[in-house]
Amino acid sequence: MFSLQQFLPHTSSKLLDHSLSLKRHGHRRFHRHCPTTLSSSHQSGPSLCDSKTQVSRVPLLTSTQAYEKLKTFRENIKGKQQFLAMYSSIFGGITTDPAAMVIPMDDHMVHRGHGVFDTAAIMDGYLYELDQHLDRFLRSASMSKIDPPFDRGSIRRILIQTVSASKCRKGSLRYWLSAGPGDFQLSPSCCHRSSLYAIVIQDLSPSSPNFRGVKVVTSSIPIKHPKFAITKSVNYLPNVLSKVEAEEAGAFVGIWLDGEGFVAEGPNMNVAFVTKDKELIMPHFDKILSGCTAKRVLTLAESLLREGKLKGIRVKTVTVEEGKQADEMMLLGSGVLVCPVVQWDEQVIGDGKEGPITQALLNLIVEDMKSGPSTVRIPVPY
Ligand SMILES: Cc1ncc(COP(=O)(O)O)c(C=O)c1O
Repeated sequence: MFSLQQFLPHTSSKLLDHSLSLKRHGHRRFHRHCPTTLSSSHQSGPSLCDSKTQVSRVPLLTSTQAYEKLKTFRENIKGKQQFLAMYSSIFGGITTDPAAMVIPMDDHMVHRGHGVFDTAAIMDGYLYELDQHLDRFLRSASMSKIDPPFDRGSIRRILIQTVSASKCRKGSLRYWLSAGPGDFQLSPSCCHRSSLYAIVIQDLSPSSPNFRGVKVVTSSIPIKHPKFAITKSVNYLPNVLSKVEAEEAGAFVGIWLDGEGFVAEGPNMNVAFVTKDKELIMPHFDKILSGCTAKRVLTLAESLLREGKLKGIRVKTVTVEEGKQADEMMLLGSGVLVCPVVQWDEQVIGDGKEGPITQALLNLIVEDMKSGPSTVRIPVPY
């Protein structure tokens, strides 16, 4: 069994048609930042609303026909990301055929969200902070009561070999641990065996990430309870809705406040500030995800301390007032690296320009990715 989207190649195109029709009617949220486009033959189809009345007969496909449809579906997607290789413990190997990069429909991660994931950037043929991400991955699995199918060393080798098979030298690696397939019950007790999946993604955008100063808004979507916020599970609905809400407000992302009203994090990034006294401050990680980028930035920032550009570095409770009055504000994460924020809600941050400390920290992390120590750069044997 495969996931529904893979078997219904028209579903996605119709959703895209739907997004186009939403756009025509002034709803921008699905399409504004989505780089994916389909070939013209797919774009001319009916909208999702039309399709509800137009689908009358569903073909029964042979497995060969189903595979051919999957292949056509993948070939017709002209996205900015290419999927170069996938490992699946279900088939116990690596494939470079995007049509075969599917997961079982009865996997507990698919129908109950019982799975965890993590990432690692691939830079110049090295995996950046693989071990730090792997530690968090296994912690998340343990907190989610998922017993991995392999030991840590094997998972690490599988991930490195998947990148090697992909031949990708610049991109990203994403991987999941799930309770695995079995049935469609709530309890994972009938899942046969936990599963591991990994995929290598090459981003074809001209220069990504390339974030200039962005605007953020306070998120009205409820933040996850700390028990769930510290786990990198696949339950990202609040995160997605927070992102959508921000985009609808013309902002890059939403900033969550914790249950007591203190600054927490963004939907897939941490947040930090440089105060008027030149202190780098960051919220504690006890109620939010412990970001690998944020933690690395805390270490790298020590050189700015030595140079006298920073007067202090502190992980502390951060009030909204402190954040909004800061000289600089930044987002930190594997996807954005160090992204300057120039406006939070109606408040312009500092002088409204990208701050020098933010820029210096971005330079430090990019440098670290290119030539950091062996503890953060794992060579991929191609
Ligand atoms: C909720 C959340 N916070 C923070 C981060 C930043 O973590 P990292 O720097 O490890 O990418 C992420 C990244 O995925 C995230 O999803």
